[in-house]
Amino acid sequence: MTQPRIIVAGRIPDAGLDVLRPHGNVWGWKHDEPIEINELYERIAGADAVLTLLTTKIDRSFLEAAGPQLKVVSNVAVGYNNIDVAECRAHGVIATNTPGVLTDATADIAMALILMSTRRLGEGERIVRSGKPWQWGMFMLLGSAIQGRRLGIVGMGAIGQALARRARAFGMSVAYSNRRAVSPEIEAELDAERLDLDELLGTSDVVSINCPYSADTHHLIGPEQFEQMRSSAYLVNTARGPIVDEAALVRALRSGEIAGAGLDVYEHEPQLAPGLADLDNVVLIPHLGSATIETRAAMATLAARNTVAVLSGQPPLTPVT
Ligand code: GLV
Repeated sequence: MTQPRIIVAGRIPDAGLDVLRPHGNVWGWKHDEPIEINELYERIAGADAVLTLLTTKIDRSFLEAAGPQLKVVSNVAVGYNNIDVAECRAHGVIATNTPGVLTDATADIAMALILMSTRRLGEGERIVRSGKPWQWGMFMLLGSAIQGRRLGIVGMGAIGQALARRARAFGMSVAYSNRRAVSPEIEAELDAERLDLDELLGTSDVVSINCPYSADTHHLIGPEQFEQMRSSAYLVNTARGPIVDEAALVRALRSGEIAGAGLDVYEHEPQLAPGLADLDNVVLIPHLGSATIETRAAMATLAARNTVAVLSGQPPLTPVT
């Protein structure tokens, strides 16, 4: 029997490749920069399985380039807005993602951005690195305390809840908006109040975006929402860039409609909206939510296990279709 052809369309940790190798003929892209689309389409032709990164678009052209042999696309990411799920279904292809294994890493980065933005740590770092003389000062770079302040979490899935636990440990109170209420046990544990988005925006000191990106959440936060937020409030986004209207965010940060922001993701990643990088009241980091050695190995392993399950005729562990 010929071995299944498994294509790994981006460089992943060896732990994932080690899971795949006994189960097929594995070809993997070895470079950090993304594979060029023509080469990708050549490589996936006739493949049984493809592991993809969030920078790979899985749409009709991808599925047609792969052909009818394709059984599974395993995204090495929890977010799967790069996958056209309906097209996968129409082509009889199972799509999977990597929930759970990056929850803590991403919540850590959201908490880090809350601290960095409210305490002006990016500005501080730039001063020290500039080499210009500086000295401790009573009024130097004063930030805002978070103790006793309200964190409003937009999207109370696993990452939102993990962030809520961290924020509670820092003395913040928690409100959330979500399509569904979380269980009464979790609401009680986190002492978290569910609000509609408008009320959450109008009453929170920090707003954190933790929902998936879809047509429903495109520009969920735009000019009207910035108007609703307090002028002393901060916005943090570790989910997906296009949930926030980035040009409107630049205007809100510039005009003082909100106090500051911390971003790990961008609307047109890796491009930034004009003017964003010129603002001092925003912390900008390059999509590092899941970027720990341990988490990336766990993501690669889970994606590989999903692939192996489907190729062995078993149900995938974490399907999205
Ligand atoms: C990272 O952004 C992910 O969705 O896993």
